[in-house]
Amino acid sequence: MSKFYITTPIYYPSNKLTLGNCYTTVLCDAIARFHRALGEEVFFLTGTDEHGQKIAKIASEKGLKEIDYLNEIVADTKNLWKELNISYDKFIRTTDYSHEQTASKIFDELYKKGEIYKSTYVGKYCVPCESFWSNEQLKDGKCPDCGREVVEANEESYFFKLSKYEQALRKLYKDNPNFLVPSSRANEMINNFFDQGLKDLCVSRKTVKWGIPVSFDKEQTIYVWIDALSNYISALGYLSNDDSLFKKFWPADVHVVGKEIVRFHSIIWPAILMALDLPLPKQIFGHGWLTFNNGKLSKSKAVDKKEVIDPRILIARYTSDSVRNFLIGEISFGQDGPYSQEGFLNSFNGILANKVGNIFSRLTGMVLKYNNGTIEYANKNEPIDEQFKNSVQELKNDCISKMLELKPTLSYKSALKIIDECNTYIDNNKPWELAKEDDKTDRIKTILYNALQGMLEAYTLLNAFLPESTKKVLDIFNIKNFVIDRNSCFNFDIDKVQLEKYPPLFARLDIQKELAELDEIANS
Ligand code: MSP
Repeated sequence: MSKFYITTPIYYPSNKLTLGNCYTTVLCDAIARFHRALGEEVFFLTGTDEHGQKIAKIASEKGLKEIDYLNEIVADTKNLWKELNISYDKFIRTTDYSHEQTASKIFDELYKKGEIYKSTYVGKYCVPCESFWSNEQLKDGKCPDCGREVVEANEESYFFKLSKYEQALRKLYKDNPNFLVPSSRANEMINNFFDQGLKDLCVSRKTVKWGIPVSFDKEQTIYVWIDALSNYISALGYLSNDDSLFKKFWPADVHVVGKEIVRFHSIIWPAILMALDLPLPKQIFGHGWLTFNNGKLSKSKAVDKKEVIDPRILIARYTSDSVRNFLIGEISFGQDGPYSQEGFLNSFNGILANKVGNIFSRLTGMVLKYNNGTIEYANKNEPIDEQFKNSVQELKNDCISKMLELKPTLSYKSALKIIDECNTYIDNNKPWELAKEDDKTDRIKTILYNALQGMLEAYTLLNAFLPESTKKVLDIFNIKNFVIDRNSCFNFDIDKVQLEKYPPLFARLDIQKELAELDEIANS
């Protein structure tokens, strides 16, 4: 059985997660679910990145111990993922004992190999934030977190020999153009980083106490990179008593990350892996950002707008599938895309109510009207309408191949087109006209049978994208634990299935009314 290992970044729990944070996770979930539906053995990893000065500071401001603060926010994160139907196989926390052990062993190993050395860190320091910054990280020469003046810093630290890997990394990019996609991101890395020359990387701190201690130098704490990035292999048991998952799933098929952290994943992480003599991930995908132009939901102008849309409100009002539909369908994977309440609501009506929900109500209504709710392939001599079947098969192939090319937005759209195809088939065959003639009962049954086969092809493909609503329909047809059949279609065993009247999957929204209510919530 082929295997597929996909990861999200581990989230920084400095705040409750935002709709922007949901983006990576929802997309990864759809990809993971689709690969499972193709019969592959999937391991989907997500988690939280819990160390560092900032977390310690937030916890102390709240009068909490770090771990108590973290437990609370991690519980909220897991709850959000549950509400969004995120089917992760493992949730890693960098405060897990097993992760801390592995990260510490990796640090030791790199030190033993001469890949890490002790030197002096020279850079900038923000006293109130107790944070170190490089010149590149500063915003207008000031602390990027609080905007205050920074001072010169001089501190003993350990360094990873990143510069040593410059040539090997250049070769990796050259020989393997699919290592970092979309290709524009690879160009950015080459122009912005390689061409300026890679510098060795500070990987420990003396002043940061909330972290994993360096085993052979207790004054030092492992800082950010080796701790956070190694989650992708510590989660699989690398350097632990049981490394069977590591043997099975490493190297990862894809690390999906937002564009601002592409550099860490496509330069630092491969260099660390090269230093450890480990295989590199097959691909890094750098997606774009969900941007917010409509400031209506902003509670405070000082808050970055990407922070302000609470996904929990959208899920509670419009279901988890509505959030998934917007994130997957309305933002082309790889590009930035704007969020607006209006865009979200229009997408709900246009895609979910008018397509996904409508086809089910329409066909159920016809089966009830023309055959008392029983699905029948009445006349076995009558051929299935080949043209319709072929178009569905073509769209199905397209949906699968787009997903395998890591184009989930396009894959989703191909599955939705199957629904359009079903509607066209019904419109062309007009069962309501045939119903006026006496001898057309068998033909009507067959048309509805075919259209339902098409609809179920769409729903089984859409299940990875919209698991909640499609499951309701697939359950009615007793389609469970299915594997997508890549080579043929219309094989669902639905003859004699009895349908009833069902509530609509997605009732159409009154957009003006919803906008007003969302505004009220935002201002309350
Ligand atoms: N902790 C690091 C990752 C370490 S991985 C070894 C981190 N965490 S984060 O919580 O700040 O971000 C997690 C993910 O959320 C990133 O992929 C980031 O791009 C994504 N998003 C946060 N806001 C976003 C948008 N507005 N739009 C899309 N995704 C963005 O970085």
